[in-house]
Order: sequence, then structure tokens, then C-alpha cells
Amino acid sequence: MWMSSLVALSLLAVLASAADQKLSSIATMLADHSASLAFSLYHNMAKDKGTENILISPVVVASSLGVVALGGKASTASQVKTVLRADHLKDEQLHAGLSELMSQVSDAKTRNTTWKISNCLYGPSSVAFADAFINLKDKKNAVNSINEWAAKSTGGKLPEVTKDVPNADGAMVINAMFFKPHWDEKFHEKMVDNRSFMVTRSFTMGILMMHRTGLYDFHKDTENRVFVLDMPLGQKQASMIFIMPFSLEPLERLEKLLTREQLDAWLGKMENRAVAISMPKVSIEVSHNLQKHLADLGLTEAVDKAKADLSNISGRKDLYLSNLFHASALELDSQGNPYDARIFSSDKIRNPKLFYVDHPFIFLVKDNKSKALLYIGRIVRPNGEKIRDEL
Ligand SMILES: *[C@@H]1O[C@H](CO)[C@@H](O)[C@H](O)[C@H]1NC(C)=O
Ligand SMILES: *[C@@H]1O[C@H](CO)[C@@H](O)[C@H](O)[C@H]1NC(C)=O
Ligand SMILES: *[C@@H]1O[C@H](CO)[C@@H](O)[C@H](O)[C@H]1NC(C)=O
Ligand SMILES: *[C@@H]1O[C@H](CO)[C@@H](O)[C@H](O)[C@H]1NC(C)=O
Repeated sequence: MWMSSLVALSLLAVLASAADQKLSSIATMLADHSASLAFSLYHNMAKDKGTENILISPVVVASSLGVVALGGKASTASQVKTVLRADHLKDEQLHAGLSELMSQVSDAKTRNTTWKISNCLYGPSSVAFADAFINLKDKKNAVNSINEWAAKSTGGKLPEVTKDVPNADGAMVINAMFFKPHWDEKFHEKMVDNRSFMVTRSFTMGILMMHRTGLYDFHKDTENRVFVLDMPLGQKQASMIFIMPFSLEPLERLEKLLTREQLDAWLGKMENRAVAISMPKVSIEVSHNLQKHLADLGLTEAVDKAKADLSNISGRKDLYLSNLFHASALELDSQGNPYDARIFSSDKIRNPKLFYVDHPFIFLVKDNKSKALLYIGRIVRPNGEKIRDEL
């Protein structure tokens, strides 16, 4: 999973298929703590005015932090554990727990969902890395090789991780992912048409929209003017949860409400009922440099050239974490399992609630069993054609 030849890093290699194994208590705890970290990270990132779409995989962030811990020594390593609230764990427990969690939630065979995850650790040319590390001989070369690697490892879905490599004198962790939900009940391929998605009141994009009516867990929070919808994936091993304001508005108001407690409160009020869903059939590609955001959340040493001790990577003390690129492509498509059409002749499907996704929304992909978050994010601007722009 990690491109590197460090003996210790191989601890993170995928364990034997974790099909229906019960998660250990350590992996369960790490799932929980990475979900908490996810909300802090989301809020920290949402503060940046230039950020539109957000796409973070909390479990992959946790696993990358695990690699930093593994490469770190002394307080550089212990601080990583603090960020993961895993101070009490021994190194081996942390790595085994993260490895177990990742292999469980990303097992494509049992989950019937496409999730390609590739990770890589890059180092500066000054550091004597083992062969498998790609060294940053020059910046242009580095940018090209990173982007080529990401495109290749995602089957072309993620063509670009970065345009630049700031601070090429440090180590870089890079995550390149492609996620495509496979719905528990598919959308009909033919029920797709051209509609518009309002980015703002004056800016509309032309997108493809897919439609389906079915029974879903749904909640209409009238007080907060928000819809919450749970769409199961695969064989219900995970769900994509949509949180959308009643009508177009900047997401700030909703984001102020967004805590784990509020999410649990919403999920606790869900009602299984008929919902007519219109969902953009779109893809987005997002790349974030998490280095600064993780520093804001307490990872101050690994990112500080003067303080970092990542000598377990290079054997020398002059290495620090200069970038943590976290890049994902997400594709919302009609594909999924066939559904039982008999439902359409039943009374249950009458008077569906409308869930019409034509304006920005927040979403999470949550593992049903471990409660780990595979993703948290927002779509503010899908790919599409600009059809109206009134200034
Ligand atoms: C999901 O299951 C269906 C039906 O078994 C299969 O055709 C499809 O290839 C699977 N998709 C993934 C991503 O595993
Ligand atoms: C959507 O619009 C585009 C361009 O106008 C057109 O080429 C395409 O066939 C339309 N698709 C559907 C499903 O109507
Ligand atoms: C979680 O899994 C159980 C057992 O398969 C299923 O009954 C339940 O509906 C799932 N929950 C969600 C939210 O998909
Ligand atoms: C990394 O740390 C482990 C445990 O402290 C140690 O056994 C190993 O030799 C270290 N590796 C390097 C390259 O310093």
C-alpha cells in the first residue's frame, strides 16, 4: 500500500482479507478518533476562503499520520499519537490498529464499491532514501512524476495532485484516491437528463442529473432548514449521508451546526420512507495540502524544520514533513445493485419527499459497522458547463 522499502512501513501492508472479521477494540477506537479528527479538520479547512469543494478521507488521514509516527522519534512521534488521541497505545498497537481499520474499510471485494487508494512517501534528494522512494531532483520533475503516479494509480481519474511542490527540502506524504459509490439500489441509467446546479444565486452550471424514487432513511429538520438523507452503498456495509439546506445558501450556516453530536442527533431521527432523489451525475477532483491544517490541529513538530525528528525515515535528523497532499476523485454515477421493482406497486412509495440536489451540500461516507468515516466533504462546484454567470 505504501511505496517504500522501510521494513517498518511494511507493517501497514494490507492484512489478510478482513471480510467479516470483527474489528479489534483498538481499531474501533482509532475509527472513532479519526472521525472526531475529521470534523476538526473539515472546519479548519472550511475557514479558508479560497476552498470550494472539500474531500477528505479521515481513515486515510489517520493512516498517513501513522506513517509519520513510524518515521518519527521522540516528541515528533508522540505528538502524532496525541493528534490521534492514541497516546496510550504502543507503536505496534497503533500501526496494527490502523492497518486493520484500513484493510477492513477498503476491502473492495466485500464492499462492492470502487475505492482505489495509493499512498507514497517522497523525499528530497539530499536524503539517502531506499530505492523505492522517489527523490525530488528538481521541482518540475517532481511535480510531473507525482501527477503521473497519481493518474496511473487511479486509472486516470485523478490527473493532478499538485501544480507545485512548495518546500522541496522536506519529506512529502501523498494520498491519491478514486472513490465511486456503488449504490445498494441503482439509479436507472436511462433516467438521466440535463439540469442545472446553482453554485450561487448568479452562477449556474449545466450538469447531468439522475433520478430515482425508493425507500430511504430521511429526515427533514424544519427548525434548521436542512434535509438529511442516507443512501446505502454496496450491501449496506457503508452509507453516503447527504446534508443539504432546504434551498440554495452558502454552507457556512450549516457548517456551524455540523458536529458529531448533531450528526448523531439527525441520524437518530431518520425515518424510512419514500424519497424521490435527483442527484447530480458528476465527478469532482480535489487536492488538499493538509500540512498546515494538521499543524493547526496540533501536529506542530513534524512540520517544523527546526524541531522535527523523522530520523527513522532517513537515519538523519534534518528531515521534516513539508507537504501532505491528500487528493481524491469522486464520481457519482448511476451504478448499483438491481432493486426490487415490486416496491413501485406498493403504497409505501406514494407521496415521496423530494430530495433535489441542485445546490451545494455536505456529505459523509460512513462505515456501517465500525462507524469510521471513509469520507467527509462538500460539493460546492461540480464539474460542468457554466450556463449562467450574472455579475
Ligand atoms: C458489485 O457487484 C456487482 C454485482 O455482483 C458486480 O457486477 C460489480 O462488478 C461489483 N462492483 C464492484 C466495484 O465490486
Ligand atoms: C445534455 O446536453 C448535452 C449538450 O447540450 C447533450 O450533448 C447531451 O446529449 C444531453 N444529455 C442528455 C442526457 O440529455
Ligand atoms: C447497517 O447494516 C445492517 C445489517 O446489514 C442493515 O440492516 C442496516 O440497514 C445498515 N444501516 C445502514 C444505515 O445502511
Ligand atoms: C526506527 O525505530 C525503531 C524502533 O525505535 C528502530 O528499531 C529502528 O532501527 C529505527 N530505524 C531507523 C532507520 O532509524
